[in-house]
Amino acid sequence: MGNDEAQPDARGAVNRTDSDRRNSRRAFLRTTSAGVTSVALAGTVTASAASAQQAAPAAAPQGAPPASAAALAWAVTPACSGQETPDSIEGPLFKPASPERGDVVTPGTQGVRIDLAGVVYDTACTPLPDTLIEFWQCDQNGDYDTSGFGLRGHQYTNNRGAFLLRTIIPRDYWGRWGQRAPHIHTRVQAPGSPLLVTQLYFPDDTKAYGRDFAALNAADRLLNRACTIALTTRPGGAYSGTFDFVLKTTS
Ligand SMILES: [Fe+2]
Repeated sequence: MGNDEAQPDARGAVNRTDSDRRNSRRAFLRTTSAGVTSVALAGTVTASAASAQQAAPAAAPQGAPPASAAALAWAVTPACSGQETPDSIEGPLFKPASPERGDVVTPGTQGVRIDLAGVVYDTACTPLPDTLIEFWQCDQNGDYDTSGFGLRGHQYTNNRGAFLLRTIIPRDYWGRWGQRAPHIHTRVQAPGSPLLVTQLYFPDDTKAYGRDFAALNAADRLLNRACTIALTTRPGGAYSGTFDFVLKTTS
């Protein structure tokens, strides 16, 4: 229970003080910068990482591929498509007043870890600092925390429009819209701009919980392939992911 049609479960709320939130904000700012850098240095060159780093050229890491190969990877990766990120339904389980934090994994949550990094752009591919992003998702069993704030949180993009979410890959579930592939719900809003509500998905070859992501994606009638996270594997079965949002900034 606990999916889009379920009742609240019995898990406890995460009580956070104002001091916690301030510390969380500072921690996010630190981890965002470090996290995006690590993505780029690890060779998982993506639009988000490349764009986030354009103001700060990265030094060649030890053991990095030859410069020519690295240059080719960067050259063929588009920085920003300019195509507006498609919207989707919000679903009934969004909760306002979530904690401000980049790491939404609370004690007791098991699952395949993923660090999701990206940049929020406008349709002219200008990064959007101070953009509010809300994330919420179900856990490794397909359950949403409806009594507390497990796997829920909000954050603001940094001065380069970048964000970093530390979470787990959610599981599929059956709900009012039928079979749902694993997805992360988001609400994204730049200052003074329209709200984007959408959902992010995972590639067909994602390995988590013994599930067939290709079949699950194919069966999900809400899924939009344009909202697929780009994944790379990390040691121990964890993932790094990237997704860039492109927002319309005028009503
Ligand atoms: Fe959902």
